[in-house]
Amino acid sequence: MKKTVTLTNNINNLSYDFKILSSGIGPDAIDFQKLYAQTGMFAYDPGFTSTASCKSKITFIDGEKGKLLYRGYKIDDLAQKKSYLDVCFLFLEGVLPTDEQREEFDIELRRRSFVHEGIKNLFDAFPDKAHPMAMISSAVSALSTFYFEHLNINSEAEYKTMAKRIIAKIPTLAAFSHRRSFGLPLIYPDLNRSYTENFLYMIRAYPSQNLYIPDVEVKALDTIFTLHADHEQNASTSIVRGVASTGAHPYAAISAGIDALWGRAHGGANEAVMTQLELIGTIDNIDKFIKRAKDPGDNFRLMGFGHRVYKNFDPRAVILKNLLNELKDELDVDDNLLNIAQKIEDIALTDDYFISRKLYPNIDFYSGLILTALKIPRSMFTIIFVIGRSIGWITQWIELKHDKDMKIARPRQLYIGDTDKQI
Ligand code: ACO
Repeated sequence: MKKTVTLTNNINNLSYDFKILSSGIGPDAIDFQKLYAQTGMFAYDPGFTSTASCKSKITFIDGEKGKLLYRGYKIDDLAQKKSYLDVCFLFLEGVLPTDEQREEFDIELRRRSFVHEGIKNLFDAFPDKAHPMAMISSAVSALSTFYFEHLNINSEAEYKTMAKRIIAKIPTLAAFSHRRSFGLPLIYPDLNRSYTENFLYMIRAYPSQNLYIPDVEVKALDTIFTLHADHEQNASTSIVRGVASTGAHPYAAISAGIDALWGRAHGGANEAVMTQLELIGTIDNIDKFIKRAKDPGDNFRLMGFGHRVYKNFDPRAVILKNLLNELKDELDVDDNLLNIAQKIEDIALTDDYFISRKLYPNIDFYSGLILTALKIPRSMFTIIFVIGRSIGWITQWIELKHDKDMKIARPRQLYIGDTDKQI
C-alpha cells in the first residue's frame, strides 16, 4: 500500500497528500518536493534538523541507539578488524577488498601520493604561522589547476581515479601544511611506507632520515582516520554536495568542505577540547566549568559534548575511549588531562542538565588526547579529521553525480524584512 501523510491547512481547510518514502532502517521521509507547488508554502527548517537532503547508501547513523554503519558494516567491527585503506576501498567499491585488491589499492595510493612540484612551491607563498587548515584548503583547490582533466569527468572509471588521487595526495598536502607552518623543510612521501605510517613520517622526519614509527602509533592514527571516514550529511559533507550540485569540480567542492570543517562547532572542536581541558587544569576546577556550561546566560559550552544526531553515546567516542585506555601505557598520554576528561564525562552522565538534553561525549572529546600522545601539534588536529573524511567527501560526491533526483542545492527563505519602502 502506498503510504501517504495528509497536511491540512486550517485557514482555508484544504488538505494535501504527500508520499512517504521508506528507509527500511532509519526514519521514513515525507516527500515534500511538491510542497510549494501544491500548497504555495515552504517548509521552514533552519539547520535542516528535520530535512533529508538526499537518498544515500553510504553511511547510516541511528542517533538514538548510538549506532554507526559504513556500507552496512558496524563501525566497531571495521575499527577493530580493518584498516583505513580497507574502509576507503569499501566506500569506493561497495565491498571490502580481497588481499590482492588491498595490495593493488595500497600500491596505487602510494604512487599517487606525490604532488606536482608547482603545488609544492605554492607553500612558499604562504606567510609564516599560517594555519595549516587555511593552507590545505588552498592547496586542494589548487589541485584543480594541475589536474584539470578532472574538471569535466563523466565516467565511473574517471571518478574513481580522481577519488584515489584525492585521498592519496591529501596526507602529503596535510604534512606540507604542517611543515610550512613551522618553517621546516618539506618531506616527500616514502614509497616504502603504508598510508598512515607515511603521514606520520612526513610530519616528523628530517630530510633523509630513516625514521622508525612504532606500529602502535600507526594503529592508533589509522583507527582515528577510520572513525572520521564519513558521517552522512554532516555540515562539511552537505557543503561538498552543495558545491558539487552546481557542477563545480571535486577539488573546489572538497576545498569548501575543508573550510566548513574548520569551525569550532564541527571539526575544530577537537582542538577546542584540548584547550579547554588545559584551561580547567585540575580536577578541583571542573565543577566551576560545569556550572558555566549549564548557565543559560553564559555562552560557554563543554567542548566535545553534544551532537546534532547522537542522542546517546557517540560510538566513535566509545571506541576512542577504549583505545586510549588500551594504549595509555604505550603512548605518552597526559594522565592529568585524561583524568579531567574522565571526571567530566562521569559528572555529565549523572547531571540532569546533560541527561535531559541528551548530551554525551562526541568523537572530539577523546581524539585530542590521542593525537597529543602521538605528538601531533594542536594546529594539525582538524587536518587529521580532513585526511580521514576525504574518502567520505569524495564518495558522497560520486553518489551525488549518480543521483537521478539531484538538483542544484538552492533552499528558499521566509522573508521577514521591510516592504514597500520609498526612495
Ligand atoms: N555544553 C553545554 N550545553 C550544551 C552543549 C555543550 N557542549 N551542547 C548543547 N548544549 C545545550 C544547548 O545550550 C541547548 O540547551 P537549551 O535547550 O537549554 O537551549 C541544548 O543543549 C541543545 O543544543 P543545540 O545547540 O540546540 O544543539 P545542536 O544539535 O544544534 O548542536 C552541537 C550540536 C553544535 C554539536 C552542540 O552540542 C555543541 O556546540 N557542542 C560543542 C561543540 C562540539 O563538541 N562540536 C563537535 C560536534 S561532533 C563533530 O562535528 C565531529
